[in-house]
Amino acid sequence: MSEKLIVKNLRVKIEENEILKGVSFEVKRGEIHAIMGPNGSGKSTLAYAIMGHPKYQVIEGEVIYKDKNILELSPDERAKLGIFLAFQHPLEIDGVRLSTFLWQSYAKRFENTDKKPNVMEFRKELKNALVSAGMKEEMIDRFLNVGFSGGEKKRTEIVQMSVLKPEIAILDEIDSGLDIDAVKIVSENVNRLVKENNMGVIIITHYQRILNYIKPDYVYVIIDGKIVDKGDYKLAQELESEGYLRYGIEEKEEVKL
Ligand SMILES: Nc1ncnc2c1ncn2[C@@H]1O[C@H](COP(=O)(O)OP(=O)(O)O)[C@@H](O)[C@H]1O
Ligand SMILES: [Mg+2]
Repeated sequence: MSEKLIVKNLRVKIEENEILKGVSFEVKRGEIHAIMGPNGSGKSTLAYAIMGHPKYQVIEGEVIYKDKNILELSPDERAKLGIFLAFQHPLEIDGVRLSTFLWQSYAKRFENTDKKPNVMEFRKELKNALVSAGMKEEMIDRFLNVGFSGGEKKRTEIVQMSVLKPEIAILDEIDSGLDIDAVKIVSENVNRLVKENNMGVIIITHYQRILNYIKPDYVYVIIDGKIVDKGDYKLAQELESEGYLRYGIEEKEEVKL
């Protein structure tokens, strides 16, 4: 059984617009792949399509993991196979406590695996995850992301990742809105799971900064729904100084709200 996520000629549309126009790459467990690109190039679309968001309609191509075409599976079945997405914009769910949400996802994620979900073990893992993410324990009694700051939402995604122990994690702009100390904490957690769990990573980012801490084996540049360039860590460093100008993209300074 191949523990490699294979994305083959993926074309995706939203409503009537084709956003991804044939994207291919492969991620083995233990490898770190960075997907970079300007705003609106289709990075989140790629993440959602792999995870199975119903709004993102796959019109061609395949995504294969463990010899299955996962496009035929529901999002929860994809998660049970070991695929995880940390959202760029985590949702707020009123009425659902973070502790309940994490326990339910954990129990489901591991229900048909060798690791039998058990509350004691979960508590221990959750506690470690909170400490590693630098999150206060009382946060778990709050409703999921409701009233959380941007940084707290991102840390919550990291806590989820730590307890769910994915085999392949997709991190969509996990660095946006984080100060440098938080970027370091997030990176330490990702690097730990790569090492401890042989986790494969698809790290989506607009900026190179986080790649100083999570060092990618491969870097792709996606523009207008297509991979237009590939390289290693050095490519990301070059883009840091010159932006996406070499691909004919001149970006305006982002307005900070
Ligand atoms: N839910 C949606 N409905 C309609 N258009 C969308 C939706 N989500 C994204 N788009 C469009 O798809 C394109 C790619 O968006 P996205 O994948 O979010 O880019 P990125 O993550 O690279 O910034 C953009 O032009 C965006 O406006
Ligand atoms: Mg995005």
